[in-house]
Amino acid sequence: MTGATGNVGRQVVAQLLSTGTPVRALMRDAQQPRLPEGAEAVEGDLSRPGTLERALAEIETVFLIWPFLTTEGAPAVLDVIAGHARRVVYLSSSGVNDAAERQTDPINQLHADMESLIEKSGLQWTILRSNTIASNARGWAEQIRGAGVVRGPDIAATAVIDPRDIATVAVRVLIDDGHERATHVLTGPQVVSRAQQVHAIGEAIGRPLRFEKVPIAAARKQLLADGRPPALVEALLAGAEVQGSGHREIS
Ligand SMILES: NC(=O)c1ccc[n+]([C@@H]2O[C@H](COP(=O)([O-])OP(=O)(O)OC[C@H]3O[C@@H](n4cnc5c(N)ncnc54)[C@H](OP(=O)(O)O)[C@@H]3O)[C@@H](O)[C@H]2O)c1
Repeated sequence: MTGATGNVGRQVVAQLLSTGTPVRALMRDAQQPRLPEGAEAVEGDLSRPGTLERALAEIETVFLIWPFLTTEGAPAVLDVIAGHARRVVYLSSSGVNDAAERQTDPINQLHADMESLIEKSGLQWTILRSNTIASNARGWAEQIRGAGVVRGPDIAATAVIDPRDIATVAVRVLIDDGHERATHVLTGPQVVSRAQQVHAIGEAIGRPLRFEKVPIAAARKQLLADGRPPALVEALLAGAEVQGSGHREIS
């Protein structure tokens, strides 16, 4: 398991363990007690392929997330994985458009490039293309605790999906045979705008909340204030600029 401490990964770990499947988690800091009991933690860093060997010993299947904004280093990481494992399940984005020569935004381009590297890696592969993950909304926590107004760019409505649902699909694909060379698109039950999502969170916590669309410059300031890394902020805003609210991210 890569990304085992993340929003999606920790759900995958917990659900795999509940099926009795042994789980080994790659951790940058294996001393941090952030894994459910029963998972084995082994130290390693995806930005340093040489550190991955120990984590991969006797591993058959790898759940791979790619936490970077470029594919730099990915071929070397895939080589190390292919030297040990038979299969990889990669968490990609539903925004990837197979028909496009170039993707419309940098994050979808990253995932398209990762997918093609994986397909050439010699590993058996399955791709899970997820729509917007609901846990992104954790970035709004401070704004919700404060004025109750979430300020953000005017991006397309998407079929926001709960990370637990992504994990349920991931576990099936990791455990069952029959998903080789398959690309599964994962969505939540309905397409929601950010305003609808913020409203739903308000209903759930019993406080009226509202979303306020702001121009890109103000959105940049807010995303940085929310604690998102600057390079990610620029990639998200590039996506927001091309997506605009008139278009849906998925079809
Ligand atoms: N957000 C979306 O709407 C969306 C949509 C489609 C696909 N995705 C993909 O889903 C993936 C997972 O999302 P998430 O929300 O679960 O991520 P997340 O909560 O941000 O977690 C990132 C994980 O990556 C690990 N990590 C970071 N740098 C690492 C490194 N150098 N070596 C090894 N591990 C490293 C972190 O471990 P530490 O504990 O060491 O920090 C953490 O477990 C994303 O990477 C993205 O590509 C996201």
